[in-house]
Amino acid sequence: MADSYLFDNATAEAARQVRLLARILDDHSRDVLRGIGPKPGWQCLDLGAGAGSVATFLAGQVAPGGRVVALDSDPRHLAGHDQITVRQGDVTTADLGTEEYDLIHARLLFMHLPQREELLVRAVAALKPGGHLVVSDWDCTRPEDMLLTATPEVADAFLAFQRTIIGLGAARGMDPAWARRLPAAMRTAGLRVSAVVHNRYWTGGEPGMQLHACNSRQLEPALLSGMTPTQLRALRDGMEDPAVGGYTYPMHTCVGVRAG
Ligand SMILES: C[S@@+](CC[C@H](N)C(=O)[O-])C[C@H]1O[C@@H](n2cnc3c(N)ncnc32)[C@H](O)[C@@H]1O
Repeated sequence: MADSYLFDNATAEAARQVRLLARILDDHSRDVLRGIGPKPGWQCLDLGAGAGSVATFLAGQVAPGGRVVALDSDPRHLAGHDQITVRQGDVTTADLGTEEYDLIHARLLFMHLPQREELLVRAVAALKPGGHLVVSDWDCTRPEDMLLTATPEVADAFLAFQRTIIGLGAARGMDPAWARRLPAAMRTAGLRVSAVVHNRYWTGGEPGMQLHACNSRQLEPALLSGMTPTQLRALRDGMEDPAVGGYTYPMHTCVGVRAG
């Protein structure tokens, strides 16, 4: 696993985490990708592919004749697929090639990597002329805006959790505000850019709330530096309570097109 990444795909909770991410975010990602309109025969690259749900969707779009390379530093959660080539590697050092891909996708990856700007340059170079780069990341700058209905105890635990986990990520090079800089960074990298922000309402027991409890289990020892065991319990109970409701982090999705 690459050093800066906050989570570890080898943990028991990680399999659940990447599946929850797919359930929370795939509708949005598919809408954006359908809008681009991948064609049979396209060559695609999914960076930090996680459970591979987006790679699998793309594989269906580019068949017959197309291919999706799914690159991840720990690809253990990627299911096999005829049209997908699974590649184990660190995106910060892997050779992405030159003018190889019609479409490159990366969701919840760049925000974690201190080398994000340099990776952007290499991803653009790996696009064919006219190719599309789709980058989605969460804006983690406003955790206090997320929960809408909760008891004071759950609201307090939720905020303590968010502040602690975002701080842990930032200490490893995660940029909570990267998503807000994404359009400008992709323009600087030479792409013609469009961008959209996506969010939706979730209640306790649904994936958008369960993800926080899942993340809290993965990082429990480190989280106890910033929250009490009582707050951790309140967070986990709250994320299963249907009376609790709110948004997850706003997802900024930026589509960049390389000049043809
Ligand atoms: C938060 S998960 C997102 C997974 C998937 N893209 C999604 O949105 O559902 C981040 C993924 O990126 C991978 N990853 C993190 N750092 C990486 C690196 N330096 N090189 C390759 N993969 C990396 C992790 O192993 C993990 O599978």
